[in-house]
Amino acid sequence: MRQIRSFFELRHAEKQLVARALLASGRAYAPYSGFAVGAAVRTRSGSKKTRIVTGTNLENAAYPQGICAEVAAIAAANALGQNDIEAIAVVGHKFTAPRDASEIVTPCGRCRQVIFEASKASGIDIKVFSCNGILTEIVEEPISKLLPVAFGPQNLGFTKKRLRNMRVTLNRAVSKLLKKTAYKR
Ligand code: THU
Repeated sequence: MRQIRSFFELRHAEKQLVARALLASGRAYAPYSGFAVGAAVRTRSGSKKTRIVTGTNLENAAYPQGICAEVAAIAAANALGQNDIEAIAVVGHKFTAPRDASEIVTPCGRCRQVIFEASKASGIDIKVFSCNGILTEIVEEPISKLLPVAFGPQNLGFTKKRLRNMRVTLNRAVSKLLKKTAYKR
């Protein structure tokens, strides 16, 4: 059975994550659909201030080129070097007439695939909190349940260790390149 909780039934850390996703939804760029989505990821490596990283949907006049909030949040965490995502919250609501914040928003198919990849990179079965806009209905499910029998890095021979090694190699390469600049980290 899919358990549905309200915001007030969540634990403190879960409330923080969900509230940040709702806050982010207020910055959505969604002129075409009128549907605002905010996503918040929590990483293990971030400091107290940076553990939660957010994203919003970002639409485009060439409609298919828009990106989802979940992808924006995961990409932002990656750019910060925080690759150990343990949880993601997604909040969505239609803000143009007729307004509607009653439906739970679960990640779309593409987003599930992106969350799955992040879970393989982190080695953590990422918890997904899908919420409606008024936060009366929140469902928590691990990504392994939202995207069972998924295609993933394992199909291409990539283990967590190989993904980590890729980062080490890349960091070394960038450090070398940076030496040629005056930039101090
Ligand atoms: N959207 C997301 O950002 N995440 C989802 O998981 C579902 C859909 C966005 C895409 C588009 O900008 C708008 O919601 C309506 O589909």
